[in-house]
Amino acid sequence: MAAKEKTKNRTMSNLLVTGGAGFIGANFVHYWMKTYPQDKVVVLDALTYAGNKANLDPVAENPNFFFCHGNICDTALVEMLLKEHRIDTLVHFAAESHVDRSITGPDAFIETNIIGTHSLLKAAKKIWLDEGLNKESHRFHHVSTDEVYGTLGPEDPAFSETTPYAPNSPYSASKAASDHLVRAYHHTYGLKVTTSNCSNNYGPYHFPEKLIPLVITNILQDKPLPIYGDGQQIRDWLYVEDHARGIDLVIKNGQLGECYNIGGVNEWANIDIVKLICRLVDQAFVECPLLAERFPKAAKASEGNSAALITYVEDRAGHDRRYAIDPTRSNNELGYEPRETFDSGIAKTVNWFLNNEEWWSAVMDGSYQSWIKEQYQVTNPTLGASK
Ligand code: NAD
Ligand code: DAU
Repeated sequence: MAAKEKTKNRTMSNLLVTGGAGFIGANFVHYWMKTYPQDKVVVLDALTYAGNKANLDPVAENPNFFFCHGNICDTALVEMLLKEHRIDTLVHFAAESHVDRSITGPDAFIETNIIGTHSLLKAAKKIWLDEGLNKESHRFHHVSTDEVYGTLGPEDPAFSETTPYAPNSPYSASKAASDHLVRAYHHTYGLKVTTSNCSNNYGPYHFPEKLIPLVITNILQDKPLPIYGDGQQIRDWLYVEDHARGIDLVIKNGQLGECYNIGGVNEWANIDIVKLICRLVDQAFVECPLLAERFPKAAKASEGNSAALITYVEDRAGHDRRYAIDPTRSNNELGYEPRETFDSGIAKTVNWFLNNEEWWSAVMDGSYQSWIKEQYQVTNPTLGASK
């Protein structure tokens, strides 16, 4: 039986969402504005390669929505936004988020994920605690990841909130550092904070450098599907709207200073997920013959044989073998449970990419092409080549 979500009476809120033009941030903004239409939502986003204002088009005309193009490291700008919009809730998504990029270029991860988070904490402390605006009723919610816990063996129990931190990549180490800073601002200064650690998300607006959208868009362009190492690494996948709802519950009912794991108990080996996506795309081409006209390059999908594009490539350095979230605490304390099944979520996601070619071809700009070349071409020349 589904757990009952805990509810509390709430008053109107003014939110500052950092990184709201990215994948999860944008889905969160859509979720929030649908769920709490009376709230004001201000997005602060630097529009890096991963940020895209078009992700926010569905809410752009809403009078309760505001967008600020700026950097979280700009503490004065953050202070100004907190004051001008009388922000009581800051939800912090902004980050460099791709593990592979953290291996080839860790500096940006230190800058945004650590210095940037500290800049936000300093601004929040100054305005909320020192100047007293929303002193009693403020919240700093920090969005973190399961990667801070390191890696699991096949028989290990899933990560719980008491699993010791053991980050293995520059990305996860920078997220771990930011989690510790958030915790310290609560214990030292009394800032009202909560943190959520979530597993791998998937869904609409997922940037096509990450496994699931990369595979879908590569099939549609008849490009190889790169599988790192033996493809047996395990990730625990959650539909992005279920992450947004989990954050909502933590903000509403989570205990101050505490961390909550959010996940879907949905572990998949990479190779199995890639094969599943191949089957779903092939099936879509059978059911809708027009797709062959819309995606003339998708030769293998038209033949019902996308899996022939699977190509094993060199493994990621320091590749974590398995992640799995134990969501018992969120379930017991917050009544959290995912609503989307993996069958329905992955089908929706494949359909979204089939129906939004304009979105994904626009984000595959020059900088994206350079990244793909740098990441894959050295060891696998056909992967970086354009067709
Ligand atoms: P993303 O890379 O898609 O988006 C990041 C956003 O942050 C972009 O819009 C980017 O422009 C913005 N940004 C980057 N640097 C900035 C800066 N200095 N100032 C202001 N904005 C900046 O990331 P995502 O996948 O949506 O992840 C969002 C958050 O969720 C991250 O903190 C990530 O660690 C965490 N997380 C992600 C996943 C996942 O599966 N993607 C899972 C768990 C947790
Ligand atoms: O667990 C949460 C994390 O999930 C988030 O904190 C990160 O921000 C997010 O990017 C994601 O990290 P992963 O490294 O797990 O996601 P990615 O999609 O990059 O890779 C998923 C798995 O697929 C991983 O084992 C590496 C593998 N992979 C990835 C790519 C891009 C491949 O085999 N081939 C690829 O080309």
